[in-house]
Amino acid sequence: MGFLKFFIFLFIILIPFEKISSKDEGGLLIKQNWPFKGIFGRFDYSSIQRGFQVYREVCSGCHGIRHIAYRNLEEIGYSKDEVKMIASEYELMDGPNDEGEMFERFAKPSDKFVGPYLNTNEARLANNGSYPPDLSLIVKARKGGADYLYNLLNGYKEPPKNFELSDGMYYNTVYPGNQIAMVAPIVDEIVEYFDNTPATQDQIIRDITSFLVWTSEPELELRKSMGVKVLFFLVLITLMLLAVKRKVWKDVT
Ligand code: HEC
Repeated sequence: MGFLKFFIFLFIILIPFEKISSKDEGGLLIKQNWPFKGIFGRFDYSSIQRGFQVYREVCSGCHGIRHIAYRNLEEIGYSKDEVKMIASEYELMDGPNDEGEMFERFAKPSDKFVGPYLNTNEARLANNGSYPPDLSLIVKARKGGADYLYNLLNGYKEPPKNFELSDGMYYNTVYPGNQIAMVAPIVDEIVEYFDNTPATQDQIIRDITSFLVWTSEPELELRKSMGVKVLFFLVLITLMLLAVKRKVWKDVT
């Protein structure tokens, strides 16, 4: 096989990789140019930290992130002491102790995030019968992933005139059925960012989305850089094998 053919072959193999990393993301969504997209994708940690602030100040009132432990926050740039402080703001039930009783204590860095409700029933009761799902894996759980979340949070509009909105529901252009039981959680300046980034609605939604992409796949960067290394290695070894083959067959042909 000549080198030209080889590179065409390689190109054809690589096309699906780009396709896989940007799967068909559910039709009507406005796609964003996320830094974590594509085979060289990387996280923007300052955006993820701001997203965590949005989670804490806005979403955590109704949604948990139970797959994330407080100490995982070290991976997005918080120090051990900061993590301890954050954990100690939450209380949880532990036990039984030596007397066989359950007791309340403050959370430790090794605990998973304490959610806002004790159980599903309490969550439904507080939300008019609807259940605010745990958000740690939501980006993976919805077709369209990050773009879905971004469009959903940006999708609150005035309902069209002939639309019958049920009680306690809000019109949303992206949510299936166009009505959702969650009131629009994000508006301009609902948070005041610790790093003074202007808190426009769009910025806040981008940041909370980045944060929830991280919670759904904290090892994304590792996976991608490993993928790139593996590809590089495969190309290198193919070139070496080609060279060896040429040498071995030189006198025969
Ligand atoms: C006042 C409570 C409340 C707050 C605050 C809140 N949510 Fe919700 N959320 C809900 C409820 C209730 C539902 C379930 C909606 C339904 O079933 O119609 C929901 C559903 C969702 C869903 C699932 C949508 C789907 O496709 O099923 C996502 C994603 C979500 N919320 C994200 C967020 C984010 C991000 C924030 C913070 C910026 C937030 N929510 C703040 C109550 C809340």
